[in-house]
Amino acid sequence: MSDVPGFGKALVIITGASRGFGRALALEIAARVDAAGSVLVLAARSEDKLHELQTHVTRVASELNVRCVTADLSRKEDVERVITVIRETQCADIDHLLLFNNAASLGDVSRYGRDFTDVDEVDSYLSFNVSSALCLTTGVLRAVPRRVGLTRVIINISSLCAIKPFASWILYCTGKAAREMMFRVLAKEEPDLRVLSYAPGTTTPREQALMLFSSLLLFTSSLLLFTSSLLLFTSSLLLFTSSLLLFTSSLLLFTSSLLLFTSSLLLFISSLLLFTSSLLLFTSSLLLFTSSLLGIKASAKSRPLDTDMQLQARSSSADDSVRSACSAVHAQGQLLTCEASVSKLMKVLLEGNFTSGAHLDFYDV
Ligand SMILES: NC(=O)c1ccc[n+]([C@@H]2O[C@H](COP(=O)([O-])OP(=O)(O)OC[C@H]3O[C@@H](n4cnc5c(N)ncnc54)[C@H](OP(=O)(O)O)[C@@H]3O)[C@@H](O)[C@H]2O)c1
Repeated sequence: MSDVPGFGKALVIITGASRGFGRALALEIAARVDAAGSVLVLAARSEDKLHELQTHVTRVASELNVRCVTADLSRKEDVERVITVIRETQCADIDHLLLFNNAASLGDVSRYGRDFTDVDEVDSYLSFNVSSALCLTTGVLRAVPRRVGLTRVIINISSLCAIKPFASWILYCTGKAAREMMFRVLAKEEPDLRVLSYAPGTTTPREQALMLFSSLLLFTSSLLLFTSSLLLFTSSLLLFTSSLLLFTSSLLLFTSSLLLFTSSLLLFISSLLLFTSSLLLFTSSLLLFTSSLLGIKASAKSRPLDTDMQLQARSSSADDSVRSACSAVHAQGQLLTCEASVSKLMKVLLEGNFTSGAHLDFYDV
């Protein structure tokens, strides 16, 4: 039994488990369930990779029942085969059902929306990326019906593209948006379910580059503000001291110089005002400095995942700005590891504080 917080006895299904995020997820899940009595179902097209992963998983969790299902989820019969495997699985006393709808494709990003004229091509994309996720989910829910003591969690691996358009990614954005709404409806219809759409790493490198650039600018300007406020503070201190000296001497000269006294008094008051405003400036520059540091920290964490999907994005995207931004993030070594994103998802699922149907981004956690 694992000594890390986990899901107890669970039936876990991961689609697209052969590589990338799905593979990292499978390895993490293996450490998060009670190996004895839990079942891990891995689905993808690459049989060899699934079996290699199965070997890897059973090396660390020898008692875990790992089932590999070689399935092309764009095919109806393969979706049904995964459901059959779930139906045949003995899982009467499990605490958790976790279905990770992770498998997806980027689609042809080498063309713009105007170039998609073949209905069959678009249907085929949506059939795998949208329809199969719905039918697999409903099939699994029927195979493992609700009962007292069982928590059923459906996770849709989503993307920022579900809520934001990107040039030349028309299929991907459409699929992710449709999928996310589909799971929101499911959450509304089935209040006993826990449904989460999780975006594992943003796919907007151009925006992140801009964010990093703007936070660097903010950082530089706050440094300048900080330095100038320090100078202002020092000079106001000097002014304050000299006005005090002047004030004292004017007192001595009071009888002979009433005019001098009045002017020194004014000088004293204005130096006090200057002192107060420099203090305020100093405080606000400190706040600005802190917030810019936080901005840099956040933008440094804003990276897409280092997977085959990102490789395709930076090598094939028709849109120059999208393609070059993807390449820049890769060249700068800014890609996020799947493991880092998986561990955030685990945290969310184990804490269970999310609203069913919600969209959560890696950077929200
Ligand atoms: N990479 C990113 O930066 C990023 C950002 C946001 C969201 N996401 C999302 O995260 C999830 C995982 O992405 P990833 O980057 O790990 O992608 P990936 O490296 O391309 O892996 C995709 C997985 O899906 C499987 N798959 C593809 N077509 C399939 C089919 N027809 N039937 C069954 N399985 C199929 C692949 O296995 P086989 O080839 O063996 O079938 C593979 O295991 C996806 O939902 C993606 O949209 C990724």
